[in-house]
Amino acid sequence: MINKYKGFVFDLDGVLTETSKAHFEAWQELAVEMGIEVPEQTMDEVRGISRLESLEIILGYAHSPIEYSYDEKVALATKKNNIYLDKIKAYSPSNLAEGTIELLELLKSNHIGIALASASNNAPFLLKAMKIDHYFDAVVDPGSISKGKPAPDIFMKACEMLGLEPHECVGVEDAEAGIESIKSAGLHPIGIGKLLNCDEVYQDLKSLLDHLL
Ligand code: G6P
Ligand code: MG
Repeated sequence: MINKYKGFVFDLDGVLTETSKAHFEAWQELAVEMGIEVPEQTMDEVRGISRLESLEIILGYAHSPIEYSYDEKVALATKKNNIYLDKIKAYSPSNLAEGTIELLELLKSNHIGIALASASNNAPFLLKAMKIDHYFDAVVDPGSISKGKPAPDIFMKACEMLGLEPHECVGVEDAEAGIESIKSAGLHPIGIGKLLNCDEVYQDLKSLLDHLL
């Protein structure tokens, strides 16, 4: 399968490292301070969703909704980010999903382009902290994308940065919104974890690696 494609475009959170729990816990801590109770399912609801859009999901759980100005929303999202940053400050290569280095090496030795299409502004920090930044030929800046996942923009941009057509690339995602983005951009979708909207799903990155070897 591996030589059918010229590029692999990865999501980060929940694919190359398990930060989804840290994102969720940070939202939960903020919500508690605001007197909002968020259910466990929120962890899946905010997968792949930008910081400000995730805040809207959290605010949606308030019993008596409050109208916040844009500046107040930015301040709340920044507060969540500071809690999240504290949780990931000691991240190191030990936080990589099992099989990450082997998979990236396998792709490199087959001259396959490697790109990152993460909605997270913290992605460059994590790539460096986990010492995998040098494997990436392209890292999309989510700030340069006007429409986030499930829109196709971020995966299309990743292919463009690799100098490849979407049909020449694979997209790897743990979020339903991410799989939608991959599909509408025209890459081959591969899901990690539990996904209902993707035909090719592996329980984790190591299982994908084993399939490719
Ligand atoms: C990823 C995560 C989301 C997160 C988003 C923005 O897509 O799955 O849960 O909201 O990135 O992350 P950031 O680190 O910029 O707040
Ligand atoms: Mg993800």
